[in-house]
Parts: sequence; C-alpha cells; structure tokens
Amino acid sequence: MFVSDCLSVNENGHLTISGCDTVDLAQQYGTALYVMSEDKIRDTCRRYKSSFDQHYAGNGAPIYASKAFSCKEICRIVTSEGLELEVVSGGELYTALAAGVDPKIIHFQGNNKSLEEIAYAIDSGVGDIVVDNFSELRRIEALSAQKGVTTKISMRIKPGIDAHTHQFIRTGQIDSKFGFALETGEAFEAVKEAVAAEHVELTGLHCHIGSQIFDISPFVLAAEVMLGFYNKIYVELGKKLTHLNLGGGFGIKYKNADASVPYENYMSRVSGAVHAACEKYGLQIPKIYIEPGRSIVGEAGITLYTVGDIKEIPSVRNYVAVDGGMYENPRYALYQSDYTCLVANRAAEPRKYRATIAGKCCESGDLIQEGVKIQKPEIGDILAVLSTGAYNYSMASNYNRNPRPACVMVSGGTSRVIIKGETYADLIRNDL
Ligand SMILES: Cc1ncc(COP(=O)(O)O)c(C=O)c1O
Repeated sequence: MFVSDCLSVNENGHLTISGCDTVDLAQQYGTALYVMSEDKIRDTCRRYKSSFDQHYAGNGAPIYASKAFSCKEICRIVTSEGLELEVVSGGELYTALAAGVDPKIIHFQGNNKSLEEIAYAIDSGVGDIVVDNFSELRRIEALSAQKGVTTKISMRIKPGIDAHTHQFIRTGQIDSKFGFALETGEAFEAVKEAVAAEHVELTGLHCHIGSQIFDISPFVLAAEVMLGFYNKIYVELGKKLTHLNLGGGFGIKYKNADASVPYENYMSRVSGAVHAACEKYGLQIPKIYIEPGRSIVGEAGITLYTVGDIKEIPSVRNYVAVDGGMYENPRYALYQSDYTCLVANRAAEPRKYRATIAGKCCESGDLIQEGVKIQKPEIGDILAVLSTGAYNYSMASNYNRNPRPACVMVSGGTSRVIIKGETYADLIRNDL
C-alpha cells in the first residue's frame, strides 16, 4: 500500500512507522518533524552487505554516501553494519570523525575541495581522497610533500554514460562539473600525472553516473567502461590499481508507480559484468565499492507536519498549508521531485481530495507537492510526506529564519531524538 515497507496503518487508522504511531510522535516531539526508521536502514545495509559478500566474496564494500543524510547517529549505524563512508566536505568529515568513524574507511569526494579541507583530510588519516581535477591533484601533491607524507588517492572519472535521469541530478556524462573525462583523453593524462607524482599513491578509480536511476543497463555499461580503463592503465603504464568504485544512484520509490529494482538484481548484473570484464582482460578482480546514499536512507524517512490552514480557491486549487516548507525540504522547489503525501490521522480513509501542499516560507514557489490526492484534511491534522529520508535534512536551510526541525529515529515501536530541533537562539548564535 505504501512506498516503504516500514510504514503501516494501525487500529486507530493512523499511519505508523516501524511500529510507532505517527500521530503520537507528532504530539510528543512537535512538528515539523523528520522521522527515520532504524530498522529499515539496517535492513537495507544488510541486504547491500550480504549481496556484496555473495557476489564479490567480501572483496569490497558498500560505501554510504553521507550527503544523503549526515549526522553522527547515521554514521554510527551504517558503519556498525560494515559499510564504509563517503564525505564531500570538511563538515561531513567532521561529523563522521565526531561519530567515531575510523578515518581509514572514509572516502573524501568533492569537485572543489579547499586547501583547508584537503589538509584536514590528510591530517585525519582519511583512507581515500577522490581527486576531481588537475588543480586538486597538484594541491594534494604539494601539501603531501610539505607534510612529508604519501597520500592515498583515487580518481573520479566521467565514463560518458547518460543514465537518462533528471538533468539536475545527472553527473556522469561529459558536460558535468565532476571528474576527468575519459573520451577526451583527460582522464589518462591525469592518471599519468598521478602515477608520476611522488607524494600521492593512486590506488583506484571512481565513477558516479547519476541519481534516482531505475535501469540496470547504465550501471553495467559503466562497469565495463571503467574496467576497460583500469586495464589500459595496467597495460600502458604498468600501474596496478587495487580498487574500483562504481558509485551510487540507485532509484527509490517516491510514488507507488516508481519501479525501483531490488539491489540484489543490480548487484548480480553489475558483478556479472565485472567478472566477465576481468576474465576478458586477464585481471585479478579489484576491490569493488559502490556508493549509495538515497537508497539507504530515502524510503526509511518521513516528515510530519501539522495542517495550519486550508485555502480552497474554486476552479483553481486547494492549498493545504503546513508548518514546514522549502527550508526543510527544498526538493520540489528545486527540481519538482515527486512525493507521496497523506493525512496521517486519517490514513485508512481513501485519498480523494486534490491538494497542493504549501510551506510557510515567503515564496510562491514554496511548495512541497502540487495536485496530489490526499484524505480530506482538517486544520490540526497531521500530514505525512513519505520517502524524505534522503536529501531533505541534508539540504535544509534556515530560510526566513526558520529553525531546522528535530529528527527522531524509530525502531521496533520505540523512538529517540537523534538531532535536536534548532531553537531561535541557535539562529542567532553567529550573529554579532
Ligand atoms: C560521487 C557520488 N557518490 C554517491 C552519490 C550518491 O548517490 P545516490 O544518493 O543517488 O545513491 C552521489 C550523489 O550525488 C555522488 O555524487
């Protein structure tokens, strides 16, 4: 019935998540409120990990892309399940280290890391810095020389694959700000420079072809292209790398109609391509990584709101105003992302009322969703937006000086706060 198997409806007709009544959660913690299911997150991590162990005999690991949802508790949860961690900023690195994550399992991405961020990563002993461009490569080399260390790096490659996804979240093809292009020869030049550099050790290659992808074929193609390049580096430069990171991007269900593919199917088809390519080139199978973010936390999260106003404009639309908006979920305003919405305290009733869910920010475009069918709401009802676990809290701002909501983790019918809601005092803490 719902987009995620951690959701259900109880005997009171209320939406539940991992056994917790969402109406009770809204009452206990207030709204707007992010709610995440630990059971769902752990289950997904285990499915990824066990299919890795099955297809690569444990030689490799899933890496959680923490940009999807970064806080100390999620770092603890995913790493306790055997996943490694990707960070893309000094802030995400700081969060991971503060959570006690072993720096050796951290992969530092990003297309314009500052000198300070690079120094922070080197000083922290991060296991892998994924280099995006020539300037960065030279910066890392110079900084490592200055510090008298050898820094382990890998390289972000654009394999030139169009995964037919939304143009704003497509990062694999040539017109992309991320990485070195394969087809122009840029990637090979970068590898040559890295191999010749004295204070960096090139250990692997990385690609990420996009996000919210449902089709397995582009991932298979990316694996083949990347292994071809991996082999070329060995054949032409005699340089044996040790790992290949095939990125994230696996699609999830925002609407029931979304055809998300079980990860096990991705894993078996992509690992099939990896094994076949290695056999073709006579290569030992490298350590394989994948880097999912959205698919680990997306369906595990929901956001709860209180309906504050209903504005029915005849022959135009019905605005249902909630106590959140683009400051805590900017994804509809940014790229018209789909979501499933429902009235949590009337979850058993049919969804027949067409509504535009509006936030409280001073922007006409501050909408969470347009023209969705929900149960007929009343003021004071609790509205739930589903599949908000990824790129919601992590993309939140303080626009209009709204404090970011709290985040509650639920498991087996119990709940706990993992991120406190911001206060007004938090909003002015850096004001002078
Ligand atoms: C380099 C890299 N790795 C991993 C991810 C995670 O992608 P997703 O959340 O779609 O799995 C992204 C997302 O943009 C990315 O840019």
